Amino acid sequence: MTNPYESSKLLEEYLLFHYGKDQEIMPWVNGPKDALGFTGRTVESLMKPSPYDLKLKALDVGCAVGGSSFILGKYFGNVLGMDYSESFINVANRLTSGKPLKFSYLIEGDYYENATVAPPSYKGEICFEVGDASDLPEDLSDFDLVHAANLICRLPNPLSFLNRLPKLVKHGGQLLLATPFTWLEEFTPRANWIGGSGNSKEKLEEVLNPWFELEHEEDLPFLIREHQRKFQYSFSWGTRWRRK
Ligand SMILES: C[S@@+](CC[C@H](N)C(=O)[O-])C[C@H]1O[C@@H](n2cnc3c(N)ncnc32)[C@H](O)[C@@H]1O
Repeated sequence: MTNPYESSKLLEEYLLFHYGKDQEIMPWVNGPKDALGFTGRTVESLMKPSPYDLKLKALDVGCAVGGSSFILGKYFGNVLGMDYSESFINVANRLTSGKPLKFSYLIEGDYYENATVAPPSYKGEICFEVGDASDLPEDLSDFDLVHAANLICRLPNPLSFLNRLPKLVKHGGQLLLATPFTWLEEFTPRANWIGGSGNSKEKLEEVLNPWFELEHEEDLPFLIREHQRKFQYSFSWGTRWRRK
């Protein structure tokens, strides 16, 4: 199966989703503006902030084109953004060069509008790597914070990723997890859906509880624009967990 996250359609949609101006994403006055700025909210609304420290390190798994990773870069001296999609990681890396990035987004049919992403500002080191959340390098461990937004229902075996989290987050560290539980067989075999035939929230808590304490939860609306008259409007279950 070809990876949909390598397509130019999803690259444009994610550049707009992560870096587009509010007016570019949602041009309708009566549209749901509370769903904008999702990649910032999964960090800043969920995280318990600590003073900036060059030594603190954060991991953003399934970072796509890097919107949340750059937000983490305001708080952590060292940020690693990782995603399975080479085309997403390529553009995220280009944004670390300090140069603006031009892209276009769909108005309708074959009609596109040009847009520019200004280079995001951050303080310490940010790097982006292609990597598989289901097969993370052994030496990846002990992060002060791990962020995984809208990732688990895109994995073939979410449970194996969840089981890797205790090693990934250091004791006392934070795990920011957001998921809309959009289970689809195209990504995850039905047998691997977390609580797919019951309550996904309860099942997720059951899996994480031996290692993490749930400190905060909130529903985070988000909006992915397909074209000027079509949007995906979803609610992610946003959570902050403390590594025991
Ligand atoms: C629904 S998007 C969410 C992206 C981003 N975190 C956000 O909140 O906008 C899912 C992301 O997970 C990535 N992904 C899918 N499978 C992955 C895997 N096995 N390892 C790492 N990333 C993966 C996709 O390439 C895509 O960027």
